[in-house]
Amino acid sequence: MRKVVGVAALLCAAVLAGCSGGGEGGQAAAGDDAITVGFSQVGAESEWRTANTRSVREALAAPEFNLRFSDAQQKQENQIKALRSFIAQGVDVIAFSPVVETGWDNVLREAKTAGIPVVLTDRAVNVADDSLYATLIGSDFVEEGRRAARWVIEDSQGKQGPIRIVELQGTVGSAPANDRMRGFKEVIDGDSRFQIVRSQSGDFTRARGKEVMEAFLKAEGDNIDVLFAHNDDMAIGAIQAIEEAGRKPGTDIRIVSIDGVRGAFEAMKAGKLNATVECNPLLGPQLADLIREVHAGREVPKRVMVEEGVFTQDQAEAELPNRKY
Ligand code: AHR
Repeated sequence: MRKVVGVAALLCAAVLAGCSGGGEGGQAAAGDDAITVGFSQVGAESEWRTANTRSVREALAAPEFNLRFSDAQQKQENQIKALRSFIAQGVDVIAFSPVVETGWDNVLREAKTAGIPVVLTDRAVNVADDSLYATLIGSDFVEEGRRAARWVIEDSQGKQGPIRIVELQGTVGSAPANDRMRGFKEVIDGDSRFQIVRSQSGDFTRARGKEVMEAFLKAEGDNIDVLFAHNDDMAIGAIQAIEEAGRKPGTDIRIVSIDGVRGAFEAMKAGKLNATVECNPLLGPQLADLIREVHAGREVPKRVMVEEGVFTQDQAEAELPNRKY
């Protein structure tokens, strides 16, 4: 590890909500030559995020790594504070999953000036100078949006328009919300039967997904044919709202969402969700490899993609026991 600035431990305790080391709960201690990684996570907003955190913690475990983990609780200001604290602590590598895309230039420049490489995981940033980070490992969110739209088109074969779609967006300004919206629209706009009649953020959570769907149902009544949710958790919340409104999710309203978490497979098995586009949260092992490479000063690809698929109701029962998240 680099020379530690004296206030580091204090900063960790006082400034960072949820800052914790990797060696708690009887785990092995970090070795003397361990790579110290400061990791700032988005929060705990979804089943996807819980699986992602578990995967990162497992892969960045002692004795090889000394993990400083911080939970931003879905707030960019918390992440910026965490990154500044990691810089002050002189960690070897910073890794983070940015809550939103913009607003990172200054803090990333500070990391660069301090000579600390930054690895982005899951979500992208929009910065003027892309030398401010070493690499990004994560899914192709635009393609996920396209896949959801292709499923809707296939599912609507033989149906006449207008087919009215409501969209539950992810966190405003986040890469997955921006990209999934763009990919979905790009494909759906090619078929004149479809209209996106309502589109609003449910912040990637079940509770908000339910609330926003209630508002959609109130405004549109029975005139909703399809729900596209940017993640499974919002779809699961919306399913509850649809049932409470006396309609049949999966039948009266066809539903496609993104992630492929266990809850989505259970909802598909119950006939309430029609399809889920996979977004793999198990990024820990690949992230650890990239951190090793970057720490050793070796060249890494600027973008590392994750392979993913689409699952439908008829596959749910057979696939459920194989799900790892
Ligand atoms: O960035 C990935 C997205 O963030 C997942 O699709 C969503 O569930 C999570 O909150």
